[in-house]
Amino acid sequence: MRRQRVCLVLCLLVVGVLTACVRQVPDTHPDQVLTKRKALFKQMNRALEPIGLVANEREPYKKEEFAGYVDELQKLSNKPWAYFPQDGNYPPTRSKPAVWSEPAEFDAAQKQYQRVVAQLAQEAQAGDLEKIKPAVVEVTNSCKSCHKKFRFD
Ligand code: HEC
Repeated sequence: MRRQRVCLVLCLLVVGVLTACVRQVPDTHPDQVLTKRKALFKQMNRALEPIGLVANEREPYKKEEFAGYVDELQKLSNKPWAYFPQDGNYPPTRSKPAVWSEPAEFDAAQKQYQRVVAQLAQEAQAGDLEKIKPAVVEVTNSCKSCHKKFRFD
């Protein structure tokens, strides 16, 4: 009886440790490139949020404030790419192998993204909401098209 109980307690302990491991996979890279690029993509996601709300008319358009949001997004637009080095493909990455096997295409997708963000920044400076809206769509399409080719869902 007693022995069984000890076993049960041990089992529960093991399961607890294992689930903790699954939840927190340590970043094994010396420069923690995966952790860094994920954090930057999350920031991009957050930066895009208020822009999307205005473009969808769920928040009022205020020129200066909006230009500030776009500025933040533009500042981030060249950041994540430095964190995809040759030895940067390791779990739990969501990047597809194409990031490393098709570097020219990955580079082109980054450039395309930066181009549409720059276009949005121009429209934000000009201040015409009706022109801003399609520019925002271009940006979100660019996120999506890169993910389709280079990221697992
Ligand atoms: C040039 C390609 C490219 C563009 C453009 C791009 N992404 Fe990504 N994104 C990736 C790749 C690759 C990953 C997978 C990173 C990994 O796990 O190694 C990723 C991951 C992410 C993640 C998941 C981060 C995590 O914690 O796992 C989010 C969120 C994200 N991107 C948001 C965006 C948003 C929002 C945009 C546009 C404003 C965008 N991305 C534009 C390639 C891109």
